[in-house]
Amino acid sequence: MRPRSLVVVANRLPVDDSQPDGACEWRRSPGGLVGALHPLLRREPATWVGWAGGTGPAPTLPDVDGVRMVGVPLSEEDVRDHYEGFANATLWPLYHDAVEQPVHHRRWWEAYRRVNQRFADVVAETADPDAVVWVQDYHLQLVPALLRERRPDVRIGFFLHVPFPPPELFMQLPRRSELLAGMLGADLVGFQRAQAAHNFAQLATRLLDLTASDEQIQVGDRTVRVGAFPVSIDMAEMATLADRPDVLTRARRWRGDLGDPRHVVLSVDRMDYIKGIEQRLKAYSELLADGRLKVHDTALVQVAVPSRERVAQYQVLRDRVEREVGRINGEFGRVGEPAVHYLTQPFDRAGLAALYRVADVLAVTPLRDGMNLVAKEYVAARVDDGGALLLSEFAGAAAEFTDAFQVNPHDLDGLKRTLLAALQASPTELRRRMRSMRDHLREHDIRAWARSYLTALDETGGLADRLTSS
Ligand code: ADP
Ligand code: F6P
Repeated sequence: MRPRSLVVVANRLPVDDSQPDGACEWRRSPGGLVGALHPLLRREPATWVGWAGGTGPAPTLPDVDGVRMVGVPLSEEDVRDHYEGFANATLWPLYHDAVEQPVHHRRWWEAYRRVNQRFADVVAETADPDAVVWVQDYHLQLVPALLRERRPDVRIGFFLHVPFPPPELFMQLPRRSELLAGMLGADLVGFQRAQAAHNFAQLATRLLDLTASDEQIQVGDRTVRVGAFPVSIDMAEMATLADRPDVLTRARRWRGDLGDPRHVVLSVDRMDYIKGIEQRLKAYSELLADGRLKVHDTALVQVAVPSRERVAQYQVLRDRVEREVGRINGEFGRVGEPAVHYLTQPFDRAGLAALYRVADVLAVTPLRDGMNLVAKEYVAARVDDGGALLLSEFAGAAAEFTDAFQVNPHDLDGLKRTLLAALQASPTELRRRMRSMRDHLREHDIRAWARSYLTALDETGGLADRLTSS
């Protein structure tokens, strides 16, 4: 059989076309999806279909590292009603346990359908015969079925990077059956966690009256495979970076700039209400107020890069976080010693690696998160087996990092207690925990993820071999 070619379909194209000479380069961050796929595609002449970020006609983009970039045009209205509306104000909060109230508007659904159709059309015109088409994430749940109508020859995979909610929540969606049927157009539907696959199968039975197990669902004469494939990172890349002399020098300099405190606590998040930033700040401020932490001894570095800035809930969150950081610094900071070092800037990979090397504790405390790759990057960066990971039990990563200091971020007293435990743990205990997490990550890095998903999708196995051979 001829080797199948690969088309990745994601809401965003992973490119930065703002270079002065008109050249394009990878835009990796901030956000987990591109970070996960980038290390794989650098070695495969694939096609990536997505939105280039602007409005109006899609720009013509050069290939980047052999990857063909195909833009999908979106109008101002499409961006407002599809990306900011249905994707990020209806589905996003609902899929994250409705920690913010999901908003429903009929015109957002219309835009979601329209934009999904446009993506499916572009892919249908782009994909080679028998190609593998790998559709990513909640923005494009209708694409598998729409694409199958036009291109029954291609093999279609769908992977959801975010949680898939329990039936009680999903049932709130006015167009719930259509969304499910859209995903079921795929040959393989992948989730981060087994519970999500279970939720999906239950809904297929309940809403569409299909015969379903957690592994497969019968749709007419097709069998759709379902499963958990926890996404990961390129561990070797981060480990190499984190061990580079210039990165270590930068890490030492930053520790000095922080006043050489006994402890550095770090958080790195997109500014998103799912990330639990406010709860964490509250716990920290209470520890300062109780006198159990002192600004002179402990530095908190909060990196929170703004995200989805035109969506109302994100604007409100940023205002609240910034007010709280101001209050904490006003109340507990000293001259030259802020209580919270608050940064909204993007960092390059080396900068992130240096931050991870400075941090004695990385606090990752989302209220709900599909995976959280920041937690995995930290573990990868700790080539010295040092540092402590404080991890919410509601992040996908918690199922894998059972040796993290796990917390329920809604329980403020528990959060405070566990942060102190992480700060006070002995070096021997920290090393034991970090080693075990590093062993796990080594076995389950991004190549293992791609291998297991693509082997399940492409029965020839050829594509998985090409993408994951080192
Ligand atoms: P999400 O996909 O919800 O944004 P993840 O933790 O899975 O969350 O992925 C976030 C990705 O974005 C990580 O690869 C992380 O390194 C990157 N990132 C987060 N904040 C920054 C920042 N300030 N600068 C650069 N990259 C960032
Ligand atoms: O899976 C979560 C996700 O939507 C990814 O698709 C993306 O990498 C990240 O969050 C950032 O989101 P956005 O594309 O809205 O900036």
